Amino acid sequence: MTTVSVFGGSGFLGLRLVRQLTSQGTLVRVAVRRADRARSALRAAGLDRASVFRADVRDQATVAAAIAGADAVVDAVSAYVEAGGATFEAVHEWGARTLAREAVAAGVGRFVLVSGIGADPESRTSYIRARGRGERAVQEVFPGATIVRPSAMFGPGDALFGTIADLARLLPALPLIGGGQTRLQPVYVEDVAEAIARILADPRTTGRTYELAGPTVYTLRELFVIALRVIGKRRPLVTVPFAVAKLQARLFELLPNPPLTTGQVDLLKTDNVASGALPGLYELDILPKAIELILPTYLRKPRLAA
Ligand SMILES: NC(=O)c1ccc[n+]([C@@H]2O[C@H](COP(=O)([O-])OP(=O)(O)OC[C@H]3O[C@@H](n4cnc5c(N)ncnc54)[C@H](OP(=O)(O)O)[C@@H]3O)[C@@H](O)[C@H]2O)c1
Repeated sequence: MTTVSVFGGSGFLGLRLVRQLTSQGTLVRVAVRRADRARSALRAAGLDRASVFRADVRDQATVAAAIAGADAVVDAVSAYVEAGGATFEAVHEWGARTLAREAVAAGVGRFVLVSGIGADPESRTSYIRARGRGERAVQEVFPGATIVRPSAMFGPGDALFGTIADLARLLPALPLIGGGQTRLQPVYVEDVAEAIARILADPRTTGRTYELAGPTVYTLRELFVIALRVIGKRRPLVTVPFAVAKLQARLFELLPNPPLTTGQVDLLKTDNVASGALPGLYELDILPKAIELILPTYLRKPRLAA
């Protein structure tokens, strides 16, 4: 791949993917709404070689400009909170469709959509439904598209363990949504970035769907216990029913950087583990890294305020 347009290339996953691709000599275009913010993030990460395009997946002309002349497109755009016109449907369904359409129109060879485990076009919750419909739209428009469905991703700056650690530093007790029985299979963000880079380099991955999950399944309660152990804190875990957590998330969503969103609460209502019916990291010759190995490398230090 010589030129890859990464929509969402300044995000948690996107930046890691840009690093993987540029280290292989690929020319990378980062397409995001906030170009200045992306340039600063790329500079801070030593990735100045990537070019930045101001683009919004809801704006066809800006999408076309960021794609023209590219060999591949990756959709790693995320909306965890609905704000203004950026609804889950507009970003994850229609936005994904627009990217796929413009990629076809520009004669792009490969398309990778980053979705999520559990994406379901018939789901009753809008976030999960939009993800499922986005997958379906991309497959209709760009039949050779490859879909990757990560489980909850971890690594420096993550929303899962970072939030648990932040809360443990602030609160005397920690809220365990839904009693903490939901099962998750967290995957290291660098493993996901490497998987996408390998997919782009290997034409045999065309048209396939991958579930990218870590080596072990845990309950949410177990993940809280591990995070507390790593940061050396003891906190009682207090069950918060889903309905109460959803109300709290609605209020948090009024803040610029909500610690919890309604989409996240919805995702926690069902297990988020690989089905086993689809290929994953092992099929891409990647040995998934365990949280026990990676968490101590970053979780002990408090995060800087965003
Ligand atoms: N994080 C996880 O644990 C997790 C788990 C499973 C799946 N996923 C999926 O993985 C992908 C990446 O997630 P992430 O956590 O890396 O997201 P993130 O850190 O929130 O980054 C989102 C990126 O998308 C860009 N963006 C948002 N809205 C946009 C729009 N309308 N047009 C163009 N760019 C837009 C953002 O830049 P601007 O704001 O400047 O536009 C940013 O670069 C998403 O599809 C997400 O659903 C994430």
